[in-house]
Amino acid sequence: MTSGPVLAVDQGTSGTKALVLCPLRGVLGSGTAPVTPRHLPGGGVEVDPGELYGSVVAAGRAALARAGVPVVAVGLANQGETVLAWDPATGDPLTDALVWQDRRAASICEELGPHEADLEKLTGLPVDPYFAAPKMAWIRRHRTGAGVVTTSDAWLVHRLTGAFVTDAATAGRTGLLDPAAVAWSAPALDLYGLGGERLPRIVDCDEPVGTTRAFGPPLPLTGLVVDQQAALLAQSATAPAAAKCTYGTGAFLLARTGPLPRRTTTGLVGCVAWRLRGRTEHCLDGQVYTVASAVRWLSDLGIVAGAGELDAVGGSVPDSGGVAFVPALAGLAAPWWRGEARGTLTGLGLGTGRGHLVRALVEGIAAQVVELAAAAAADRGAPLEALRADGGLTRSALLMQTQADLLQLPVEVAALPDATAIGVGATARLGHEPGLTVPEAVPRWKPSATYEPAISADEAADRMGRFRAEVAALLARPAAPA
Ligand code: G3P
Repeated sequence: MTSGPVLAVDQGTSGTKALVLCPLRGVLGSGTAPVTPRHLPGGGVEVDPGELYGSVVAAGRAALARAGVPVVAVGLANQGETVLAWDPATGDPLTDALVWQDRRAASICEELGPHEADLEKLTGLPVDPYFAAPKMAWIRRHRTGAGVVTTSDAWLVHRLTGAFVTDAATAGRTGLLDPAAVAWSAPALDLYGLGGERLPRIVDCDEPVGTTRAFGPPLPLTGLVVDQQAALLAQSATAPAAAKCTYGTGAFLLARTGPLPRRTTTGLVGCVAWRLRGRTEHCLDGQVYTVASAVRWLSDLGIVAGAGELDAVGGSVPDSGGVAFVPALAGLAAPWWRGEARGTLTGLGLGTGRGHLVRALVEGIAAQVVELAAAAAADRGAPLEALRADGGLTRSALLMQTQADLLQLPVEVAALPDATAIGVGATARLGHEPGLTVPEAVPRWKPSATYEPAISADEAADRMGRFRAEVAALLARPAAPA
């Protein structure tokens, strides 16, 4: 017997998307609500926690109203490394949320330099302000010592149900989790100066954690998972060798590695993919920090009217006209881990036009993803066979074709772009239906388009060689003042 639809909520950086997902009839309704992080001088990126919660409620209610059918359970995906301090007695926030892009904890990371290798060994994560632990330590040092300091999911779940929990995959994004034991690492907590903290209980991604009335009728919250891992689940449930890349605010390439933690030798992150049915799956993860946010930057400058114009403007010229763009607008993540690096634009001439800039940006994004894919293949000891792509920017045929060209592999675009919501919807179904297996809970993955490489391997190697030379030059330059 198949049970009823679930409400799948994806709380992301620039908004919340909710879907009502029916196992038989697919998407029955959807809702969105924006959130607006503030970019501050000195690398700060903050958001009002009330806005995060309000967007979850608004998007969830809108999806339910459009679907017009009751749901049996709710799943919640979260941004991962966004943190705040809050009062566990009242649930009130004590600080704004520091968004995953916030770089102000760089000073904490510098101090931890001598312990970097130890922390990476303990947790699988490098010491970088991207992750939650340095931000938690920064809040303790610069904002407040009161209440608890957690990732945003723990606060949202507390507001929704009263429970004080985080899921294993989100805990794996902190830099505080022992990935083999799937338990908080006391030595890592001590090194970050967080030894005395009251931390949420780590739950499986399919553990019912409580009941929420935020969407109207009382509903069990039965699925919790961090967003990129949710997208990986949606795209690899029946194809464990598949790698996925989500093209959103940033781009995130993840590939499964099996039941044991995998140490990376390439600069990727080895972390928990999920814990479902009592079993842990691990994955490798690499990030490009600025993708849609780099497009937004171009459109703020008036080069394009928005992401919808990338293909028209980029398609007006045959190539980038010798312009190269390393879009490290908020630093470089894996495999370089140089958060202080900033973007470069070279090869400009009097003939450089909007189209060349767009093509150079698209090529710079795609080339960074190639580096992540190459690192994942090297770490797994097997070449990738294809890349599964999801997220809003998969609508750019120019980006997807450039990706296939530089990767020299087919890029398969997910028919349903909301892979994160599909993935967290699956965890909610698993939490609600104890008899269901993981592959049964995930809708069959289908591509809407496949982009095949259209340039030779030699040309791809030339273009990647130019990109690598640009990155090397960028890394050799002294850091610009923040
Ligand atoms: O690690 C941060 C990332 O998961 C955020 O994703 O979709 O909110 O931009 P998104």
